Amino acid sequence: MKLEDLLRISLACLLLVPTCRAGDPTPKPWPSQFHALLFENFTTDGNSKLSIIDLWYDWKNGRNYNIIQDQLGHKLWDAEWNNGTAFHFDLEQKTCQSVWVGVGILRPDFLSDAQYVGVQTVDTFTCNVWNKLDNFITYYEEVETQRPVGWLFYTGRFEHVITFEEGAVLSDSYWQAPEYCFTDEAGVQEESLDSGLILQNEGREPLERWLNGLSS
Ligand SMILES: *[C@@H]1O[C@H](CO)[C@@H](O)[C@H](O)[C@H]1NC(C)=O
Ligand SMILES: *[C@@H]1O[C@H](CO)[C@@H](O)[C@H](O)[C@H]1NC(C)=O
Repeated sequence: MKLEDLLRISLACLLLVPTCRAGDPTPKPWPSQFHALLFENFTTDGNSKLSIIDLWYDWKNGRNYNIIQDQLGHKLWDAEWNNGTAFHFDLEQKTCQSVWVGVGILRPDFLSDAQYVGVQTVDTFTCNVWNKLDNFITYYEEVETQRPVGWLFYTGRFEHVITFEEGAVLSDSYWQAPEYCFTDEAGVQEESLDSGLILQNEGREPLERWLNGLSS
């Protein structure tokens, strides 16, 4: 760094002490492909609903899967595409909704403009913590390894990361939505306010704020 840049940053820090973020850690961008097993605890009004989610993030191919098994309940397949379309289907019940989400999948660096909160212990791991969009999401990353440990949505969904396999890819055949997604009855619907899914699907208004955050 050039001396004059250093001086400029130092001066900015002196003048803007509360907002000076020059030394704050930044979250590690997501690998362009990974598989994570998530344990979700969705708590609202003191009631907790538990799910296991297989997250297959595949930025390279512009797609993201959440395969959501509710405790003693249904398994929902949520395939999201970068063109703004998602398919929610249930292979046992043979039901499908094709959903217009209107935004693509998360960019690997979607947290690059998040605000640093500090260090906290989460699930026994010492983590750096960030907030994005007024607590829309709080993100926990292990200090030592920079692995994601979990994230929490303002709605009360807490995703605990159980496994995190960088570079893992789900083979193409799994991404093909079933035939009954493409019949007239299946139709296309706008994203509902709470469809039980994770990132993009936490409501219309936050979705827009999310999008703004992403495109800035
Ligand atoms: C789920 O989260 C709630 C609220 O934090 C907590 O009281 C409860 O023990 C959690 N349940 C499990 C199984 O982690
Ligand atoms: C988006 O991509 C998926 C997967 O290729 C495709 O099935 C869907 O029809 C596309 N949606 C639009 C609006 O083009």
